[in-house]
Amino acid sequence: MINKFISFEGVDGVGKTTQIDLFLKKLNENNLSYDLFREPGGTVLSEKIRNILLDNSNQISDITETLLFLTARSDLVNKKLLPKLEKNESYIICDRFLDSTLAYQAYGRGIDLDLINSITNAVVETVVPSTTFLLDCHIDISIKRLGKKDRMESAGKDFLSKVKHGFLELALLSKNRYVIIDANKSISEIEDLIWGHFQKRYLK
Ligand code: TMP
Repeated sequence: MINKFISFEGVDGVGKTTQIDLFLKKLNENNLSYDLFREPGGTVLSEKIRNILLDNSNQISDITETLLFLTARSDLVNKKLLPKLEKNESYIICDRFLDSTLAYQAYGRGIDLDLINSITNAVVETVVPSTTFLLDCHIDISIKRLGKKDRMESAGKDFLSKVKHGFLELALLSKNRYVIIDANKSISEIEDLIWGHFQKRYLK
């Protein structure tokens, strides 16, 4: 049986938050219980790390940034995700997870992919989503949607293009887990696509 752990991924501005909200509404309407987490975040420690990572006034080297994201993940996995997955009661919905570190810090920043993979394996152990919805749209559309930019969002178009490309490569490497969603479509079309895949994978 597949686990009930689902992550949502994509570059900043792709519409991930809107779609997660709509997906959770659908889960509610269908009386399906869930817990929502975001990364980095979800525990007291990880939320503090999030603030450090996103604060524009902090200068952080690429390797420090990578280790901070992984530290935040480790705390979330140990304190929240692992206990919940073991109970297997509710769906666990995560706004970003391990793929973001591979896409942003390996493909985007240029940190060694194998290094991130090996620390990630130690951090997450068995806690891997059974489905990762990757929202993908034209980079100019996502950049246009960004409002006041945090430290990560300020990295620029070239960086976000590398991240987008990284996500698509990662999707090819984990075809069973990834579902690529064309996020150039309308909000309701995207919502229907995600719900359709969810029904097929978990409710049939
Ligand atoms: P959010 O804006 O989607 O909440 O994500 C926070 C930012 O952190 C976003 O710009 C993506 C970035 N990020 C990474 O660079 N690496 C990671 O491992 C995670 C989880 C997020």
